[in-house]
Amino acid sequence: MDNQTKFEKMQTNILHSIERNIPRVGTRNPEIGYGAPDFNWRYPNVYYWTDSFWTGQLWLAYSLTGEEKFKNSARMRNEHFERVLGTPTWIDHDMGFLFSLTAVADYKLTGCKEARQRGLRAAEALRNRFNWNGEYLPAWNAEAGNPGHAEVVQGKIIIDCMQNLGLLLWAYQETCVESFKQVAMQQAETSLKYLIRDDFSTYHSFDFDPRTNKPVGGKTMQGYADESCWSRGQAWAIHGYAQLAETTGDLRYADISAKLMDWVVEHITEDYVPVWDYLLPEGETPFKDTSAGAVTASGLFMLADVYKKADNGQQAEKYQALAEKMLLALHENHDLTEYEHAQGLLSGGASHVRRTNSPETKFYSDGMLPYGDYYYFEAVMRAQGHTNFFWKK
Ligand code: GLY
Repeated sequence: MDNQTKFEKMQTNILHSIERNIPRVGTRNPEIGYGAPDFNWRYPNVYYWTDSFWTGQLWLAYSLTGEEKFKNSARMRNEHFERVLGTPTWIDHDMGFLFSLTAVADYKLTGCKEARQRGLRAAEALRNRFNWNGEYLPAWNAEAGNPGHAEVVQGKIIIDCMQNLGLLLWAYQETCVESFKQVAMQQAETSLKYLIRDDFSTYHSFDFDPRTNKPVGGKTMQGYADESCWSRGQAWAIHGYAQLAETTGDLRYADISAKLMDWVVEHITEDYVPVWDYLLPEGETPFKDTSAGAVTASGLFMLADVYKKADNGQQAEKYQALAEKMLLALHENHDLTEYEHAQGLLSGGASHVRRTNSPETKFYSDGMLPYGDYYYFEAVMRAQGHTNFFWKK
């Protein structure tokens, strides 16, 4: 079977899986899933940064099929996302993940004015977090009554934030309000300066002194160590800088994304499914993180398309081939779409390996992840030539 035929079959299977899981998921938003043999979701008590990824898959399904059931099911969560916007303590840098795949997706696909307003309110909330003196977007919120925590998080940026900048660039396009664009472009530069190392591996996070805004140093939360390289963080950067290249047309961003991938090629295992940290010492369990693979593959298809449009056929071919290789590796080893009872699309997701401390919490190292699923679906669509996604301005 040639690759295109494989991608078509993967897409058909994904659509069937989503369709049969609509009644199982109901109006909830998956947070994380158990691995074999259950392959079923856990849901947050009230809210989590992962709340948009199932909805995002429903909107992708709607964009392919035009079937009302996908649109209606996606919109059943509107009330929840209104509640997010109305709860200041829930508003952090993940507004981009949360609203690009819900409100912006709805507006782009249906022209719904209310959805546009919701997307713009989310973009305003994100822009308003920006520290204009330090020129960075703090990722997380300080816990009330915990000064030590505030001391750290008020000056902390994280590489994941590269996925939140598309919301700002979309808002700039909709409104022509310059500050949306300024914040997005400055955060991309700050990330380049502090989160991307000279060899094009990445830090998960970087701390500034919140009083002086002076740089303190690179840290990790979900990687193995401060100086290692968390594979999903590297993936957020590859996809994020490819998005910036696609939106702005500036090939400098494409070259950053390409160099981040070249570093991955030097460090990935032969099977082309990322281990959760690319610099994991020998002796540590090499859990896979298929979400890192899905995000990377999707970003690489986008990168190849950017180079193709810029008439750089050699780079386009190189990154297209890598994207296909990574996507097929996920399909061959981790695709769950032919298991009737599986509620997600991919096994082998590692959300936070160092949180695993008992057999009951094994899902942090080896489970299903709604974001892995969303980007897997996105990658399968990109593999077939689709280029209009919800990140794009
Ligand atoms: N944004 C958090 C994560 O990638 O797990």
